[in-house]
Amino acid sequence: MTDLKWWQTAVFYQIYPRSFADGNGDGIGDFKGILEKLDYLSDLGVDAIWLSPHFPSPNWDCGYDISDYTNVAPEYGTLEDFKTFLREAHARNIRVILDLVLNHTSDEHPWFLESKSSRDNPKADWYVWAEMPPNNWQSCFDGEAWTYAPERDQYYYHYFMKQQPDLNWHNPEVKKAMWDAVRFWLDLGVDGYRLDAIGTIYEDANLTSHNVPYNLAGLRRASELAQTPTEKKKIEKYWHDMFKNQWGQPGLHELMKELRAILDEYDGDRMLVGEDDNIAYMGNGNDELHLVFNFPLMRTERLTPSHIRRNQKQRLTQLDALPVRGWPCNTLGNHDCSRIHTRYGDKQHDAALARLHAALVLTLKGTPFLYNGEEIGMTDYMLTDINQVKDTMGSWYYHAIVTDMGVHPDEAMQRTAAMTRDKNRTPMQWSNKPNAGFSPANVETWLPVNPDYRNGINVRDQQHNPSSLLNYYKHLLQVRKSSPALIEGEYIPLNNTAKDYFAFLRKSDEQTVLITLNFSAKKLELDFSRTKEIKGHDLQILFSSAERLKTNRRSAIESFEGFLFRFGFDNPSFARL
Ligand code: GLC
Repeated sequence: MTDLKWWQTAVFYQIYPRSFADGNGDGIGDFKGILEKLDYLSDLGVDAIWLSPHFPSPNWDCGYDISDYTNVAPEYGTLEDFKTFLREAHARNIRVILDLVLNHTSDEHPWFLESKSSRDNPKADWYVWAEMPPNNWQSCFDGEAWTYAPERDQYYYHYFMKQQPDLNWHNPEVKKAMWDAVRFWLDLGVDGYRLDAIGTIYEDANLTSHNVPYNLAGLRRASELAQTPTEKKKIEKYWHDMFKNQWGQPGLHELMKELRAILDEYDGDRMLVGEDDNIAYMGNGNDELHLVFNFPLMRTERLTPSHIRRNQKQRLTQLDALPVRGWPCNTLGNHDCSRIHTRYGDKQHDAALARLHAALVLTLKGTPFLYNGEEIGMTDYMLTDINQVKDTMGSWYYHAIVTDMGVHPDEAMQRTAAMTRDKNRTPMQWSNKPNAGFSPANVETWLPVNPDYRNGINVRDQQHNPSSLLNYYKHLLQVRKSSPALIEGEYIPLNNTAKDYFAFLRKSDEQTVLITLNFSAKKLELDFSRTKEIKGHDLQILFSSAERLKTNRRSAIESFEGFLFRFGFDNPSFARL
């Protein structure tokens, strides 16, 4: 294989620490728990972990409101526990990247406490302060973006919740303090960072107001009530216009370059992936971020062949246009969105669809990111009681629509359950024991466990079932790992007008693999014998999502089935596949 970096060949697995594994039995995940599950991850076949924030936090935003950047949340353990985790992960050849929240801190961070204490303290200018709200900007989580601090008789700005004040990145002292924190973890040996919400770091210098005829709650409510495509389109534009002056502003490229230079001071092997889909943040391909997520792929109600083809064409063309060719990065799920199984399911073929989608994300060109629980088909869990809601953007919205708009509490609860991110953050389901084996029986877990763990959606049952989704992921990860084409091969789309299926080649110097994914409920007879790129090659079945490896019928593809074929044994080293 050509000389690729580890983050180009790796499959990443996102751990949401609060919900991954509860080692000390208090209902909350922790490092002891993660440590106990490292062998599971190694056995699954992932190569790297993205750890969502593990820092001390008052948890208004489930850890994304950090009150100390160089420590570990006490409920997760100690710094020593972190070091043990890192060492043990590395011992298993699993890399670890951390979540770096640059835009804001917690309002309980000592930097903010000092900044808000007076107008002339040494950190007075570390956050974004104003005499009066200078505009009508909204916070994307809880209403007005400017909150009054009586200590200074001034307002501070926050893109997210009021407990998440925005740092003033124009102040060089802020940069220095944050770069120190970045170095702290790099010095300990972490392999890089996932950069949280980078688009929100700078704001429009003129502080221009938005011109949308709603506030946040009003717009959210209008989105729920929009019916026709025209209404929906209008609302989509409103969302864009409401926040367009608050993100994607000048200054970010320079900042990303500075950060990249810090990483490059290390062994040249640390990496950055941005929570942004803008390929421009890869700079020249070598001087800003290593990866940005391909969010447009997942931003659809249904994954269809034409959506995927269009997406791949756009992304890969943009990456190719960089002065130094960029590398793609695909994902279908994370802690901020509805789980794949629920979102892309059709309630009839969910099991087959889950396999198909895994096959997609693990065969497209680029680095795949998986989200914990996706490998066992975890589903969204709808909360029914507002007191259970932990995602504060959800409880804020509930109260806003009940109190200010007179929405009936039952309807408000349903809407809240559907919009809150709690639904996709419930504890990992490890077994069919009480509490899904996440915590001991009778312990109240921090979010309720989804009761569907009793129906086979748990690790233990699936480990014992050869045809489970878990074993499917394992198998597919092995196939991927041993296939040069799937790791580094070029993407060559085939039969571009097909509506029912998506077919493409991955072609490297050593190997060619044909991938056919049937996105329809019909059985299809596919014939590639006259396709230019395939003609004359003997196709050997490499993998089938329906586990039909022994079948002789190569051209028939069942509903929602995915097939991988390799071209005949033209290189003996593939015979082992
Ligand atoms: C990112 C995180 C999300 C968090 C937000 C504010 O989008 O993924 O969970 O709420 O940033 O930090």
